Amino acid sequence: MTGMSGTVRWGVLATGGIAAAFTEDLRSMPDTEVVAVASRTDASAQAFAERFGIPRAYGSWAALAADAEVDVVYVATPHSAHREAAALCLEAGKHVLCEKAFTLNAREADALVKLARDRGLFLMEAMWTYCNPVVRRMTELVRDGAIGEIRSVQADFGLAGPFGPEHRLRDRALGGGALLDLGVYPVSFAHLLLGEPDRVQADAVLSPEGVDLHTAMLLGWSEAGASALLNCSIVADTPQTAAVTGTKGRIEFPRGFFYPERFVLHRPGHEPEEFTAETPETPGAAGAAGAGLRGLQFEQAEVVRALRAGETESPLVPLDGSLAVMRTLDAVRDRIGVRYPADDLD
Ligand SMILES: NC(=O)c1ccc[n+]([C@@H]2O[C@H](COP(=O)([O-])OP(=O)(O)OC[C@H]3O[C@@H](n4cnc5c(N)ncnc54)[C@H](OP(=O)(O)O)[C@@H]3O)[C@@H](O)[C@H]2O)c1
Repeated sequence: MTGMSGTVRWGVLATGGIAAAFTEDLRSMPDTEVVAVASRTDASAQAFAERFGIPRAYGSWAALAADAEVDVVYVATPHSAHREAAALCLEAGKHVLCEKAFTLNAREADALVKLARDRGLFLMEAMWTYCNPVVRRMTELVRDGAIGEIRSVQADFGLAGPFGPEHRLRDRALGGGALLDLGVYPVSFAHLLLGEPDRVQADAVLSPEGVDLHTAMLLGWSEAGASALLNCSIVADTPQTAAVTGTKGRIEFPRGFFYPERFVLHRPGHEPEEFTAETPETPGAAGAAGAGLRGLQFEQAEVVRALRAGETESPLVPLDGSLAVMRTLDAVRDRIGVRYPADDLD
């Protein structure tokens, strides 16, 4: 792929909560512009376009995919529609940034990755945590041996809601449940540090609709001699913290570990050391919060950087990593007995 120059022109596909937050953060990104939005309905597309001053509004995803002046599409539908929406855009020659969970299952993820690779187009899961400068600093420290060899990872993400039976998080057809929406963060965090586990155990409380309300996971890496204890919930406000413990020390992330502003390194014989990440180019996570941004600008900057460099894949959020996470999520769902209608197409 040849690197792009000039303004990167974005299309936003869907008009829900994260589509709005993403569009808001993108406004602070230099040399980028949201030029079009698509919704399932004209009215919603029009309202979103007016709210954010977007020039073109479409009442169909196909019309956005066919817009010759869109370079890259941000897919922000519920997970159940990620594969269809992203495939439609890739088939029309668009680069794609697709929300997490990447797809409903590994089979869908595989199909998307193959399509992007066949077409030579950029595709990335919107795993913003991996692009966060504080998280990147942590992985560098760990790689440099600051805590020795990793033995355990702990992480959790639970929200109390309440999410009623009408909410997408409770809808099996939309890929509802805690695991794909929130559990994907602790699972991705563990994958970032240790790769794909070879042992997966899990326990969950399911809703009457058959989605997971609360899930506990125990993952194991035989070769590394490490394990991870992870939790997610849509019925309980968990600490939302993470810790990585190695043979020579540990790293602790405070609440909000998936978009951190800082972490603390603890080593025997040393005072605890706090790490942040402020860079002149992009305000650090702390600076970003001060500027009213949510932290989504780091993944946006990574997409723009990759497109300009002519890369079809981000080294920060590699597609093989997203595929591995989907396989782990499939394995967890297998253990807890959550099946989505799309699984029956397998
Ligand atoms: N990175 C993050 O921090 C973050 C945060 C929240 C969510 N997410 C991810 O982003 C995705 C969307 O989450 P959200 O919280 O924005 O959800 P949301 O507020 O419910 O919005 C989803 C949007 O998708 C569109 N849509 C397409 N097909 C749909 C269907 N069958 N049913 C309902 N809506 C449908 C709708 O827009 P139209 O009416 O315009 O078609 C809807 O507004 C999820 O995959 C979620 O995991 C990421």
